[in-house]
Amino acid sequence: MMNPLEVVILAAGAARRMLSDRPKIMHEVAGVPMLSLVLATARQLQPRGICLVLAPNRQQAVPASLLHDDCRVAMQPSPRGTADGLAIALAAIEGNPDVLVLYGDMPLLQPPALQSMRAERAAGCALAVLTARVADPTGYGRIIRDATGKLLGIVEEADVTSAQAVIREINTGVYLAAKSDFEDWLGHIKADNAQGELYLTDVVANAHAAGRKITGFELADATDAMGVNNRTQLAAVEAEQQRRLAGKLLAAGVTLLAPERLTLRGELRFGRDCQIDVGAVLAGPLHCGDRVQIGAYAVLKDCRLEDDVAIEPFCHIEGCTIAARSKVGPFARVRSGTSLGAGTEIGNFVEINRSFIGANSKAKHFSYLGDLSLGDGANVGAGAVICNYDGKDKHKTGIGDGVFIGSNSTLVAPLEIEAGAYVAAGSTVTRNVGKDQLAIGRSRQKNVSAKHIGGNRAGDGGDAAERPAKDKK
Ligand code: UD1
Ligand code: CA
Repeated sequence: MMNPLEVVILAAGAARRMLSDRPKIMHEVAGVPMLSLVLATARQLQPRGICLVLAPNRQQAVPASLLHDDCRVAMQPSPRGTADGLAIALAAIEGNPDVLVLYGDMPLLQPPALQSMRAERAAGCALAVLTARVADPTGYGRIIRDATGKLLGIVEEADVTSAQAVIREINTGVYLAAKSDFEDWLGHIKADNAQGELYLTDVVANAHAAGRKITGFELADATDAMGVNNRTQLAAVEAEQQRRLAGKLLAAGVTLLAPERLTLRGELRFGRDCQIDVGAVLAGPLHCGDRVQIGAYAVLKDCRLEDDVAIEPFCHIEGCTIAARSKVGPFARVRSGTSLGAGTEIGNFVEINRSFIGANSKAKHFSYLGDLSLGDGANVGAGAVICNYDGKDKHKTGIGDGVFIGSNSTLVAPLEIEAGAYVAAGSTVTRNVGKDQLAIGRSRQKNVSAKHIGGNRAGDGGDAAERPAKDKK
């Protein structure tokens, strides 16, 4: 029988190296706060509870929605070191469960290694320490073993001798032991080191001195232990997470034309035979059906795309649903609250906001469509603009099935244009248009003699007749 488990997440450090007003754990990796990633890993171990150690002034920056009921917060009044942080957490934990120590700034850690540590504990080791072998150990605590490989202790970067500096097995900072044992070992820790902090790493030497069995469990993939102490490390962790997320999409059958030049955030779901081109920024929740194509440098967030939708390059699409076989872009902006029906075609430099576009309708060039409900099979000509805003309020426009809106029309909302109607090119439409009617809302063209304009019209830009006489040379 395994002991019950409590997970402690240390996150009360000063995080000076981040140079940030935000707590370190709220900085994001692939669009997700680091704390959420660590909590997700912790929750997969099904612990009895989770205790998050925070600095007092940082609590308001951590949304309660991330913590759920299973996570308690313990306050560490001042950042005296990781040992002090754990001691404060232990005081808040009842009984004598096993305690797993995780760090808020190690977001890539995955459950399997932690499960193995639990198995080591169940098999009789008093303290399990998670280690990793890295190419460059700079900045990490080094693992000190004797000639037989027995774990003796950990030496921090600031305290290493030159002989210890080259040790490539590092401390991840993750430990597992019974609460009462941690309490014993912590009791002996002093801040007699280069940083003047209470180092949790000293529990290893203390457990060794007490003759207890220690297991150093080495991570199979050292990138799991990448820590974030500064923005350079945050960027490195981001790159690693992007590599992992792209790998997951490839494994799930998505074609990535440039897997290293993509940005993926949050929950992304794809059907069969989808393809994503270079530079796309995809933020979840994003649900795509089968055969969806996402073009180069498209930015999509919070969307549902049905089967066979094609997003052409350089589109910006957020908060939308796009039904099957629709084609959007290149260079289209589709804003939140918009729903495109099946087989729609939205072309270049078209902006759509809070609108419903019916099946097989088209708006292919330079348009603004806002607060619009457009029927099926309608055509919106180049340059058509819906004037939905009167400077104070937004108004709605309804356009029926099969309507043809001529190019460069200006439709002033509130407005209803019924099925089968036409709007002549260049019209300004302010009154409703009935079924099958043609609306012509422009002044009639007059052709008059151009003789009075005089010579050299081309050189004058053709508008010489409009200028006051004194301007003329
Ligand atoms: C720590 C380890 C180091 C290990 C590295 C792995 C210690 C002394 N050192 O160093 O051996 O290689 O992690 O990434 O443990 N924190 C508190 N209260 C404090 C101080 C820190 O809660 O008083 C929290 C921090 O918010 C952070 C974590 O503990 O989440 C680690 O602290 P940090 O200062 O980042 O330690 P490192 O220098 O990275
Ligand atoms: Ca750290």
